[in-house]
Amino acid sequence: MPDESVDLIITDPPYRTTARGNAGNSGGMLQKDINRKGQVFQHNDVDCTKYAPEFYRILKNSGHCYVMTNHVNLIHILNVFTKTGFHFIKSLIWNKGNKIMGQYYMSQFEYILFFRKGKGVKINNCGTSDILSVPNIKTKGADGNNLHDTEKPIELMQILVENSSHENEIVLDPFVGVGSTALAAARTGRKFIGYELDEKYYEIACQRVDQEIWETELF
Ligand SMILES: C[S@@+](CC[C@H](N)C(=O)[O-])C[C@H]1O[C@@H](n2cnc3c(N)ncnc32)[C@H](O)[C@@H]1O
Repeated sequence: MPDESVDLIITDPPYRTTARGNAGNSGGMLQKDINRKGQVFQHNDVDCTKYAPEFYRILKNSGHCYVMTNHVNLIHILNVFTKTGFHFIKSLIWNKGNKIMGQYYMSQFEYILFFRKGKGVKINNCGTSDILSVPNIKTKGADGNNLHDTEKPIELMQILVENSSHENEIVLDPFVGVGSTALAAARTGRKFIGYELDEKYYEIACQRVDQEIWETELF
């Protein structure tokens, strides 16, 4: 992708979880759902040292960048992103509502690390709290299983999209999953670029975006 070609990056990157006991609250996953290699889905071996410099290169000056993570990966991501040149604005909290059992308090939230490149530009709705309480409800497929085990709510992504971009601007999510950020962009009149390695998730994301656009045009 060309330098300075996107207005906003919002992503929920894959990360390895430890195989022996510490899921680090991986998207609210129970330990039984994490396989022996510490994976919740097939592709989760990309380190942020690979993508942080690319994010910085392709984001426009003054653009915002949101990265979702858990406490296990927090320090590494903060170190790498700030070394890359990003300015760390603050961490938002996604209050998921549901709680996952653990030895050191039950887990109920995830971090959304909020960075900017270059000059600071305020968000569009400064009245938004930095604690975002959006229920963690996953979409089920026809077989009754989750479409994606770490799917994020569209409403959550929509808050970030609306606060850090304008209509017709380009939003990027390089780890699309089943397309929550893409749907939030479609709902709010933004353009969207996304990447997803797993063909199954890619197909689901495309179908969901097509459906969203069809419904928007119809009503
Ligand atoms: C945490 S999930 C994102 C879920 C997404 N936020 C949603 O709501 O559906 C991360 C996704 O990144 C994908 N992924 C892993 N490595 C990738 C890569 N190198 N390029 C693109 N996608 C990748 C995984 O297949 C997985 O679906």
